[in-house]
Amino acid sequence: MTAELCVSGGRPLRGRVRVPGDKSISHRALLLGARAEGTSVVRGLSDGDDVARTRLAVEAMGAEVEGAAGVGGELCITGGPHELHEPESVLDVGNSGTGIRLLAGFSAGFDWLTVLAGDSSVTRRPMDRVADPLRAMGAMVDGRESGRYPPLVVRGGRLRGIDYTPPVASAQVKSAVLLAELGAEGETVVREPVATRNHTEELLVLCGADIEVTTEDGATGHGGGQVVRLRPSRLQPFTLDVAGDPSQAAFWVVAACITPGSDVVVEGVYLGPGRVGFLEVLGRMGADVERVGECDLRARHAPLRGTDVGDDDVPGLVDEIPVLAVAAAVAEGPSTFGGAAELRLKESDRIATVSEGLRAFGATVETRADGFVVAGDTRLAGARAHARGDHRVAMAMAVAAMTADGESVVDGWESVVTSYPGFEVHLAALADGGEER
Ligand code: S3P
Repeated sequence: MTAELCVSGGRPLRGRVRVPGDKSISHRALLLGARAEGTSVVRGLSDGDDVARTRLAVEAMGAEVEGAAGVGGELCITGGPHELHEPESVLDVGNSGTGIRLLAGFSAGFDWLTVLAGDSSVTRRPMDRVADPLRAMGAMVDGRESGRYPPLVVRGGRLRGIDYTPPVASAQVKSAVLLAELGAEGETVVREPVATRNHTEELLVLCGADIEVTTEDGATGHGGGQVVRLRPSRLQPFTLDVAGDPSQAAFWVVAACITPGSDVVVEGVYLGPGRVGFLEVLGRMGADVERVGECDLRARHAPLRGTDVGDDDVPGLVDEIPVLAVAAAVAEGPSTFGGAAELRLKESDRIATVSEGLRAFGATVETRADGFVVAGDTRLAGARAHARGDHRVAMAMAVAAMTADGESVVDGWESVVTSYPGFEVHLAALADGGEER
């Protein structure tokens, strides 16, 4: 079923909003909850379809999951390696690249067969990046084109630890290897030249795993490289409040930054290392965004200037580039996004789909192999843009529509259900908050 979102541009956004629980943390909470020996409690799990698929997958492997996802929801996950079993049928991850890659690693740790499949977008996404290290650990991994594309078949068990330097900066790859290590013998070391989001490591610490993380300079911050060492561990159950997803918060933050008269507070956002790169970039652009208390973000409209985003920035903001490109379109002067070839391998080819969408609103965009240059200085005009099956492109186009003159339509809006089913309800509330009373 297809859907469209209609937006009247130029209405200030005002008020407070709470975005869904972080999607990356939610996947990991389900997987580690399934492996931990006992009952874990998780509050505020993402209510998107991607995470719902991972929940179904761990249930198909014998974990018991009771309760509701969503803000205010609470889930109990009961598992443990001896409670789990081979899934009887194909695990369908839907649109989720994170789901399929993390599940490949998770299931490789067990002596059984797992078949993983997804929608037409997932079916085009490269899996050799996880297949290669899992094979090096001793798993059998196959799929279309010798395991390069899904459906994937994983026969795991009897793994041995490896010392691995991923060829791409990817938290999914790191996490797949760490999840597999939980069922392996001997230590696994993952060496990241540029550190990626560390949710798997944080949760493993919470579960009492034998894990050690060292950064290049001995500090705990992000930006440089890091080495993660994990030894086989029995996981203890945990209690976790999933903080709001910064990648979803970024849509409201940017929308408020570029729509005159806006003043928005996004409450309860995860602001840990590896996820706040978009705030640094907006700061460079001159945006009026402040942290309020521990984890609220307040954003107000202010003029922006163009900036450059390069290789080292990308792992810390890879999912926020579509919406940062919208900010760049209205900023003064050009912005360059480079070192981001990974964008071509996301739910859509985001270099192509973001460029296409921005041009529909009147922006000038030069597409490059590893990114794009956005000319800036554009007053966006209401347009019809297409999500191209990609939730983040859909929401970035909705943000462009919020600041554009006149009416806009985002086609393919149904894709947003994968990560933020309540987006348009929040949009209506914030736009109403902007009305004169
Ligand atoms: C994610 C890692 C990133 C990100 C994705 C979620 C994760 O992908 O783009 O949306 O939860 O580990 P890569 O690992 O491919 O960089």
